[in-house]
Amino acid sequence: MRIVLLGAPGAGKGTQCKRIAAQYSLLHLSSGDILRQERAHGTQLGKKAQSYMDSGALVPDVLMVEMMVGAISNAVDSGFVLDGFPRTVNQAIKLDKALAHNQQKIDMVLNLKIDEVTVTRRMTGRRSCPKCGAVYHIENLKPNVEGICDNDGTRLVQRPDDALEVVANRFKTYFQQTEPVVDYYRENNTVYDIDASKAADKVTDLIFERLNAINLASKREN
Ligand code: AP5
Repeated sequence: MRIVLLGAPGAGKGTQCKRIAAQYSLLHLSSGDILRQERAHGTQLGKKAQSYMDSGALVPDVLMVEMMVGAISNAVDSGFVLDGFPRTVNQAIKLDKALAHNQQKIDMVLNLKIDEVTVTRRMTGRRSCPKCGAVYHIENLKPNVEGICDNDGTRLVQRPDDALEVVANRFKTYFQQTEPVVDYYRENNTVYDIDASKAADKVTDLIFERLNAINLASKREN
C-alpha cells in the first residue's frame, strides 16, 4: 500500500502514521522528522531548511522533492505512508511522476479534518522525544512519568515551531499552499475524510476501518 496522510499542522498525522505503519508493516516517511534529523546532524540540507522551518514557512519544493523521492525509493517492497509530503500541488505532481516512472501510484489518500482552535491546543501542549521521535501531549497523551519518554527514558522537549506565533504562521502557510493539495487529490484519487477531532484511539479505529475495507475489496478483485 502507498498512502498519503493529509491534514493541518497538529491534526495528528505523525501520531496516526506511526500506528498505520506498525499495523500494516509500512515505512513511515515523515518529511518533518527527516528534516529535523538533517538539522540535528548539521547537514547542508538541514542548514538550508532551518530558517524556513523556524518561521513556519515551507522549505523550497526542489529540496523537498529530491529528499522525499529518495526516501520513497527505499520503500519499493514494503509500501509507505507519507506524513507531511506532498505539501504543495507542485510536490504532488512531482511525486505522481516519480511513482509513474516505476509503474506505481498512490493507492489511498486520507485527509484528517479538524478545526484550528483544537489543533492549536494540541501543538502548544505537544512534547516529543529527541531520541526516538515518540510524540506525547501534556493533557491528551501523557507519558507514564511526566516529561520522560516511555520508550527510552529521555527527557521530552517542545518543538521550537510549536511557539504560538509560529503556529499561526504555519496555519497561514497550510491554508495558502497545502489545502489545494487536497483538491488536487480529489480530482485524481479517492480522498477519505477522517474526523480528527476525536480521541487519538477513535481516530485510529476510523482509519483502520477504512484501510481494512479497501484491503478486503482489493483482495476480492485479485
Ligand atoms: P511537520 O513536522 O510535518 O509539521 P506539521 O505538518 O505542521 O505537522 P505536525 O508535526 O506539527 O503535526 P501532526 O499532524 O504530525 O500532529 P501530531 O501527531 O504530532 O513540518 C515541520 C516543518 O517542516 C514545516 O513547517 C516546514 O517548514 C517543513 N516541511 C515539512 N514537510 C515539508 C514539505 N513537504 N514541504 C515543505 N516544507 C516542509 O499531534 C500533535 C499533538 O496532538 C501531539 O502532542 C499529539 O500527542 C496530540 N494528538 C494527536 N492526535 C490527537 C487526538 N486525536 N486527540 C488529542 N491529542 C492528539
